Amino acid sequence: MASFEYTVPCLFGLEAILKREITDLGYEISSVDDGRVSFYGDECAIARANLLLRTGERVLLNIRKFEATSFEELFEETKTIPWEYYIPKDGKFWVTKASSIKSVLFSPSDIQSIVKKAIVERLKEVHKITWFEENGESYPIRVFLKKDQVEITLDTSGEGLHKRGYRANASKAPIRETLAAGIVQLSVWNKNRILVDPFCGSGTILIEAAMIGANIAPGRNRQFVSQQWDNLISENIWKDAFREATDVETKPELRIQGYDKDYHVLRIARENAEIAGVDGYIHFQDRDVADFSNPKQYGVIIANPPYGERLEELDDVIELYKLMGKTFEPYGSWSKYIITSYEEFENAYGKNATKKRKLYSGMLKTNLYQYVGPRPPRLNG
Ligand SMILES: C[S@@+](CC[C@H](N)C(=O)[O-])C[C@H]1O[C@@H](n2cnc3c(N)ncnc32)[C@H](O)[C@@H]1O
Repeated sequence: MASFEYTVPCLFGLEAILKREITDLGYEISSVDDGRVSFYGDECAIARANLLLRTGERVLLNIRKFEATSFEELFEETKTIPWEYYIPKDGKFWVTKASSIKSVLFSPSDIQSIVKKAIVERLKEVHKITWFEENGESYPIRVFLKKDQVEITLDTSGEGLHKRGYRANASKAPIRETLAAGIVQLSVWNKNRILVDPFCGSGTILIEAAMIGANIAPGRNRQFVSQQWDNLISENIWKDAFREATDVETKPELRIQGYDKDYHVLRIARENAEIAGVDGYIHFQDRDVADFSNPKQYGVIIANPPYGERLEELDDVIELYKLMGKTFEPYGSWSKYIITSYEEFENAYGKNATKKRKLYSGMLKTNLYQYVGPRPPRLNG
């Protein structure tokens, strides 16, 4: 089978988790950079990576890498790519995004239009036509420049992979699904331990955890743009990937609990869990964090409390963090993971974290404060 190189962008801070996920799928990593992991794979990798990766934002098929310091070079080299192999005569194609870091060519809109022009020129010559209807399937193209090295890629995902298809309704400040899945995988939680999100909002962290616990593929409720590319990937490859994904699903006993003081948001959480097919695994209840209590040992708390991004909310948020510190203190056997952008979190909480990890929530810098408790005795997991 032919081998291709793919690049999977991710949120900054999740590279190591994404790398592990890709390796677990059996692929060889070719490079890891800030916010992206690349790997080698056959054509089945398009379907498998899109369907199965939990922390990747999209799966890009790398088409060509070259150096360019002028628009002429960018144009000429792009034109030498055999686009007719990738894009059918009626295909709809456009450069959805261009980004440039430390490069002579830096204007994204100019890079986008030059690359599109070069593809049009190539296809005009090959197909001997002057006008493209572009009424067929979509072939989104993405271009990256870093230190004058150009990477031309085809986006096989379409909508970002964080869009799992279960979040019909979002609460006020939902965490991105890929970030939630990353935090769950960074934590010590496994399906033998209790998991509690005391600020669950629309339930994202717990839904991602339940999907991990039951081995449910993150992409099983959605479509990918490359599913329509029958010129490049046969339908059977997709069928096999979906079958592989459903074959490994399990029905474990999970103890996952979500609390929030906002009763209305829990309705959304329940709906989302139902669409994701994990409502049977999660117990949601309206409860203020001040009333948190749990008789069990060795549980795991993953919390995404309000950040107090707006100045007028900051005092309340600091009080809330103090309250969390006091409330969780008696739970010495539990491990706690708290994500916030508030830099002084540990002071307010009243305890230094065992580990702190920088994670980006989109463009917002946050930290995951990790208070890792003791391992449970063997019998308990
Ligand atoms: C940043 S949002 C969590 C978003 C959630 N991770 C999601 O994906 O939708 C914070 C949540 O904390 C809840 N909250 C604020 N103060 C609380 C308190 N004292 N006790 C329980 N929940 C609280 C809010 O209602 C809100 O839903």
